[in-house]
Amino acid sequence: PTARLTIDPHFSVGRIDRRVFGGFVEHLGRHVYDGIYEPGHPTADPDGFRQDVIDLVKELGVSTIRYPGGNFVSGFRWEDSVGPRDERPRRLDLAWHSTETNEVGLHEFDDWLAKVGSDLMLAVNLGTRGTLEALDLLEYTNISGGTTLSQQRIDNGKADAFGVKMWCLGNEMDGPWQLGHRSADDYGKIASQTAKAMRQLDPSVELVVCGSSSAHMPTFGEWERVVLTHTYDDVDYISCHAYYEEKNGDLGSFLASAVDMDRFIETVVATADHVKAVVGSAKTIDISFDEWNVWYIDRFHGVDKIEGIDNWPVAPRLLEDVYSVADAVVFGNLMISLLRHADRVRSASLAQLVNVIAPIMTEPGGPAWRQTTFFPFSITSRLARGEALQLKLDAPTYSTAEYGEVPLVDAVATHDADSGASAVFLVNRSQTEPVTLTIDIASLGDISVLESHLIADDDVYAKNTLDERERVTLQTNDTATIAGGELTITLPPVSWTALSLG
Ligand code: AHR
Repeated sequence: PTARLTIDPHFSVGRIDRRVFGGFVEHLGRHVYDGIYEPGHPTADPDGFRQDVIDLVKELGVSTIRYPGGNFVSGFRWEDSVGPRDERPRRLDLAWHSTETNEVGLHEFDDWLAKVGSDLMLAVNLGTRGTLEALDLLEYTNISGGTTLSQQRIDNGKADAFGVKMWCLGNEMDGPWQLGHRSADDYGKIASQTAKAMRQLDPSVELVVCGSSSAHMPTFGEWERVVLTHTYDDVDYISCHAYYEEKNGDLGSFLASAVDMDRFIETVVATADHVKAVVGSAKTIDISFDEWNVWYIDRFHGVDKIEGIDNWPVAPRLLEDVYSVADAVVFGNLMISLLRHADRVRSASLAQLVNVIAPIMTEPGGPAWRQTTFFPFSITSRLARGEALQLKLDAPTYSTAEYGEVPLVDAVATHDADSGASAVFLVNRSQTEPVTLTIDIASLGDISVLESHLIADDDVYAKNTLDERERVTLQTNDTATIAGGELTITLPPVSWTALSLG
């Protein structure tokens, strides 16, 4: 098959917010303990953080990191996680049926963020707690001094305020699994009250109200309408969460997961803009896609479940999905979807970062390594700069059980006017055929290919494991040729390609 693409830097979708390359660290499984923090590890720094993990997180290129959950946050008492370590309580974490030791808390996590060069994004507990506790936390983090809570922070070793800008008003409050799960009406009211109070304390905060846990929730659409009707004037963003997995051997549908993400984003935008019209606001609500990834959730519901009144392990192995080449191709395609909506998706968090549905894996006392999904994230985060562009793409289609007829090829391009650099990200969803793609690049001027990266393999289920940590690595796609204002490139079956042009 052949396909055609036209790139023109004059047609911009919107400026890419660096926050779109965010991550997410939840106190869950071996994410924090035996993941980012392992004092006995040979690479551990004086604070007990693994240097090999810090190096990989830096290489990944993560902007903002959402913390500390997730489902975890809905049972979390933030006060437990500050103050002298030996006095911190051990608590039951009901979300993951584990014990939280609080050995790593707000201050330690902030120290780690400084090491990896990322910004903190916090979630408040609106499941089992409310406005007052959210205000206390905000006072602790953002008031420079002169009050009991800000003084406590200073006494705990942090003289300057944390100055946290982005805040999530709870987590997945539409989900029946969530501690303190509420109706849209009930949640909308408490979210509005909490948001108003938080802004009274610090008008500079940016607030994210909970949208749907997936576009397939029974309340999807109506949840957004009702919640935004309560909170439109009080918040800046509404969240989207989405996880994808290959189900029942249907690789064709799985490879088209980004079609679902596109529809999800566009439906939430439409709903937010509907509420905007109804409430007569001049403000536009954007999207924080603050959980997205490939996740084999069915596996979690089967094998991983921890049960028992006397069985609350510390840092158990949970959600340790091992990702394949096909997973990485879908993952790269999800990033394409986020970027092509750069006008409205202003923030996003890859869920998650280390060990737990993560691009980075570790073994206690042993190595850390890159999963297949590491590569599309690190390359896209590094190359996608400036504006996302509107594209003209003509590609053949194929039939999927989940999403009907979908294009065989997907693409997004970016252009940075300051540096003159452009980048193109491409996916071939065909399971059998290479696609020859011709890209009209005449309007980019006299350019050449600076970098070309490829994820593909004869075995689309090839993975990196502890025993074979570099089975799948980034390759180059050397098929690109440029002539007469056109770039021609071959995209292998089930592949993800990134080109940097300049
Ligand atoms: O990322 C894993 C879990 O997925 C999060 O805790 C929750 O918010 C979502 O359901």
